[in-house]
Order: sequence, then structure tokens, then C-alpha cells
Amino acid sequence: MSTSGTGKSIARTAATGGDLDPDFLRWSTSLPVDRRLLEVDCRGSVAHVRGLEAAGLVSPEEARTLVDALESLPGKVARGEVSLREDEEDVHMAVEAWLSEEVGAVAAKLHTGRSRNDQVATDLKLWCRDAVEQVEAGIDEVLAAAKAWIAHHGEVPMPSYTHRQVAIPALGRVWLEGAIVAGLRRDRTLLAAVRQELSSSPLGAGAIGGTTLPIDTSITAAALGFGRGPDNPIDAVGERDHALTLLFVCARIGLHVARLSTDVIELSSDGLVRLGGAIAGGSSMMPHKRNPDMFELLRGQAALRQGELVALLSTFHGLGSGYFRDLQQDKEIVFRAVDGTLDVLRMTALGLRHFEPVEDACLSALIKGDAIATDLCEALVAAGQPFREAYGVVGRLVVQQREAGRRLADLGSEELVALGLDDAAIAELELRRSARRRAARFA
Ligand code: ARG
Repeated sequence: MSTSGTGKSIARTAATGGDLDPDFLRWSTSLPVDRRLLEVDCRGSVAHVRGLEAAGLVSPEEARTLVDALESLPGKVARGEVSLREDEEDVHMAVEAWLSEEVGAVAAKLHTGRSRNDQVATDLKLWCRDAVEQVEAGIDEVLAAAKAWIAHHGEVPMPSYTHRQVAIPALGRVWLEGAIVAGLRRDRTLLAAVRQELSSSPLGAGAIGGTTLPIDTSITAAALGFGRGPDNPIDAVGERDHALTLLFVCARIGLHVARLSTDVIELSSDGLVRLGGAIAGGSSMMPHKRNPDMFELLRGQAALRQGELVALLSTFHGLGSGYFRDLQQDKEIVFRAVDGTLDVLRMTALGLRHFEPVEDACLSALIKGDAIATDLCEALVAAGQPFREAYGVVGRLVVQQREAGRRLADLGSEELVALGLDDAAIAELELRRSARRRAARFA
């Protein structure tokens, strides 16, 4: 195992003013965080070497030496054959230090016309591009699990709620689509905006003003799969809009999952859904408990996503144009948000496979909650009554029935005929039919 290095950082000159205080270096290095960028950093460097080669700044042989070494490094580190020097300021310096040990003098040409400012901006964009793909895949997994849930339970009539009071019968599929599917679909669509913001490569922007060397940024951009090089070098090294938009999407996914979670927590508390043992929590004291721990944890994650979004926004707040070292902290926040989101999506898909509606309990709740009241009112409207009159009639009926210890569902057909309804209208006042009729209007 090689741990390369001379002990002296290569990003310092006589003008920098001597060696860094070791404690400051330990505190300020981004290596513990940005070593995750090793693979994209090497990819970015390979593209840069291609640009140098095309510009005649390195020979084809030199390019091959550099590219071979750079391409081999992530695998070597993963296999434990190489460990990067710990006493470097960041992954970029650690790679260059390793390279100079590995290939000798030619390594001194790698950083030609480049700065860590455009390098790290490029790395983060490459990392976020992979992250977008993974988040999309995670959303797709949840959507597939939701589809399977709907195939099994989509026709079960469940109570819908306003203000946590039973409102109107809803089919299981209408509930689940409203609670999570529709929102996640929009989140997925919004990721296209992140892709859009990831379409230009920062490489070639240098530290802030590009380079006088004839490096063609369209070559390096194309080698990395970007549509074009930097439009403006000052913007390219300082902007992280793609990461902000990505974290906004992560925060919104968090909210959508939290919304489903609250529904499941409340439905399970009322016995309207049953949680599988695979995802339920127990109590260390109360032997009868089957708790919705998974959904409480998922709901709690939304708070973390909002914190990360605000942390990233605040990191940029007050910065002028161009690069500042504050930006180093963006990666920790972005990694945590994306990791958390991928975990949440995976657990949401698992959760969806482990709870089901309890049909009898749903029907009882619909009856007990007089969920058919609005249907009855609308049946009277269809029979010719003005809405406000019918609304008053049904309201009085609800009170009468309850005072008699009954519910609207206990009204006999003579009573309904007396209200002016015919047999066909009375037949529609059935909970499942009500839920289906309503659902059909949104199909
Ligand atoms: N570790 C730094 C970061 O993550 C790399 C860029 C350093 N640039 C500089 N001018 N010091 O942002």
C-alpha cells in the first residue's frame, strides 16, 4: 500500500507564506467528505488531459500515461491498494500528489490551465448528475410499489377526511394516488430542471477568468457528457444552482412521503390499516403494541431535508460572485440530502409492501362518520331540491338519527322514499358505489 507524499502540500508557493498550521489543516481539509468525489474527480481530470492533448500542451504519450494512472486510481483505492494522503487540503490535491508519485515529472502538467475552483464545480455537477438518476430510480421504485398496492387494495372504500373528520367515501386508489403518487410524479418531473442546470461543464473556467492557453472547453465538456463548456467563468466557479434545485426536490420528496406517513399513522391508529410485523415497532413495556415506527421515522426525515435545503441556501447567502472557500461545505450538505432521500425512497417502497386497508373497519368508520351525508344531499338535489334546502334536511336527519343512537346508513327505504328519492337513487347510496362513482370522475 502506498501513501504517497513529501509532506509538503503542492498548492503552496513562496508567496503563500510557509506551511499550514497542522491543526488548521486537519480542521479545514475537505478530504474526509470529498473523497467520495474520487471517481468523478478522476473522470474530470481524464477529460482535462484530453483537452491538454488536443491543445498540444501534453504529448500523446504523456496523455496516455496520465490517463492510465487516473483511470486506475479509483479501483486501486476501492481495493485498498492505495490510500490517499491524509495531509492534503482536499481530494484534488491528494490525487495530484499520488499522481506525481505514480508517474513522476509528467504529473506536473496535469493542472495546466485549471484551478480547483473549476475542478470542484465540475466534480459536483458530475456527482449530482448521478444523484439525479438515482433519485429518479428511487421514485420509480416507490411508484411501482404504489401500483402493486393499488392492484391489491385500490377498490377498497376508505374514509377520506377533512379536518381529521370523516368526509366522503374514497377508493383506496384515490387515497394513495392523492397521498403520494401524484406528488412524487411531479417531483420526478422537476428533476428535469436539475438536469437542465447540469448541462454545461465548468471545466475551463479556471480560478475565475478562464485561461490564456488554447484549451478547447467544448472538447473537455463533450468528454464528460456535458452539452457545452462554461458560458461565463465567474458564474461557472461560483454557482451551485443545480445543487439547490436538487435539494429543493429532495425536501419536497420528504414532504410528500411525510404526508403519506401521517395518513398511515392516523389510519393505523384508528385500525383502518394494518401494519405488517416487518415494519412495525413494538413497545419495550407494553406488550400489546404494534406501532407505526417506520412512518414516524419517514415523517421525521422531512425535517432533515428542510434543514439541509436551508443550510445550502445559507451557505450561498452573502457570497459575492466567483469562488469562496465557504463553498467547500456544500458537498457535506448535498451528500447528506441525497443519501437521506435515497434511503427514504427505499423505505417508503418497503413500507408500501407492508400495510393494507382493513375493509370492515373502513366500512364501519364510513357508517359511523355518516360519510354518505353529501351523497344523500346530492341525491335530493338530483331529485329537484335546491342545494341549501337539501343540505338543511340532511343536517337535521344526521342530528335526529344520532339522537336515536343511529346513523344515516340506518335510514330505511320508506324514509328515503318519503324524502322524495326513487329506488335507483336509493341504490346509489351505498358506500362502495359512492366511492366508485366519485372515482370515475377523476379517472
Ligand atoms: N476543497 C475545495 C472545495 O471543496 C476545493 C477548491 C479549493 N479552492 C481554493 N481556491 N482553495 O471547495
